[in-house]
Amino acid sequence: MQLAHRRILLGVSGGIAAYKSCELVRRLRDLGAEVRVVMTEGATHFVSPTTFQALSGESVRVSLWDEQAEMAMGHIELARWAERIIIAPASADLMARLAHGFANDLLTTLCLASPAPLYVAPAMNQQMWAHPAVQENVDILRRRGVHLLGPASGDQACGDIGSGRMLEPLELREALVASFGSAVLHGLKVVVSAGPTYEDIDPVRFIGNRSSGRMGFAVAEAAAQAGAEVTLVAGPVGLATPPGVVRRVDVRTAADMHAAVLAAAAKADIYVGAAAVGDYRPSVVASHKLKKHDGAGLILELAENPDILTSLSAQTVHPFLVGFAAETHDVASYAQDKLQRKGLDMIAANQVGDGLGFEAADNALHLYWAGGSVELPRASKTVLAHQLVAQVAQRYKAVRQ
Ligand code: CTP
Repeated sequence: MQLAHRRILLGVSGGIAAYKSCELVRRLRDLGAEVRVVMTEGATHFVSPTTFQALSGESVRVSLWDEQAEMAMGHIELARWAERIIIAPASADLMARLAHGFANDLLTTLCLASPAPLYVAPAMNQQMWAHPAVQENVDILRRRGVHLLGPASGDQACGDIGSGRMLEPLELREALVASFGSAVLHGLKVVVSAGPTYEDIDPVRFIGNRSSGRMGFAVAEAAAQAGAEVTLVAGPVGLATPPGVVRRVDVRTAADMHAAVLAAAAKADIYVGAAAVGDYRPSVVASHKLKKHDGAGLILELAENPDILTSLSAQTVHPFLVGFAAETHDVASYAQDKLQRKGLDMIAANQVGDGLGFEAADNALHLYWAGGSVELPRASKTVLAHQLVAQVAQRYKAVRQ
């Protein structure tokens, strides 16, 4: 069983999605996990501790000041016991307290006291989720290496439609299973490129694109969890290096990224090109800020950048090559064309727009390779990255080993 004897601490905070966490306990135990549940006081207004106790087969803790429980398994022992902490649902209040290091109840205290990787599945009204206060806390948590799972978009319990729904129990379980890694890339060197590139026009302006880098960072993290030695070549993004990534090279322009990837790929087994590389750069970078000439307009002359994937596939010995194709329309035909034209082993196609792809938390991918394809339906980028890595490992083994 994939989670046999894995020790998972489930934190439940106050939100209607707490009912889904009952199901999560069941599904985790189906795979052999030992689950202990800690609830915030607010969570007990939605689901009774007795429910979680019956489902987990363990006593449920709520208060930091419970003398009986502190005598049995004290909060520090509980923090050490956990191999993973998952908070589902995570309310806006709980994330604010986590972001700012509060220890004013048992659950937040445990999070500070435990070295276990922390997974957080937000659930709240879409207006709350979009609030800058919440988004700033999310950024703090992400930068600190907390793994955000979701939220998903869709109908909400409050009647609204939008982003803020908790991921489904099976999606959360999949992320935990993947976090223990089945080491499918053990012993392999993987290079991942991520984010946009910036092509300077003058000292204050550039041409860029809307890639957030999140998909590539999630792929780097998933590959590291699968046992690979990962080098991450990152365009200009404000994201923390994912846990387990051995080397990070920060670049700005497509030319820098081309050089960094080619250098790293010389010793690599697999290259995943998740970066949105700028196709063109200004032919001349002005050394002084360009001045406006009223009414005259401006024509910029652009030169084509070298294609990283094509440069790699032209080499006689090169890594297994995975490209991405973000398209606004005709996704399948453009992707299959790129697979052939760039000499790739696999391409991950996605539709951008409609809450998916660039700048979004969710994505949906369609993978193509010579003679096959598989659809990875809409999910958080973390979940998709694990599924992508599993597919890459399978294809790599089929053609290279
Ligand atoms: N890519 C690359 N080097 C470039 C441009 C793109 O390696 N100079 C890679 C990207 O990292 C991605 C794949 O090619 O994996 C597809 O990128 P995309 O921008 O969709 O392809 P283009 O060839 O630029 O095609 P178009 O812009 O016409 O859609």
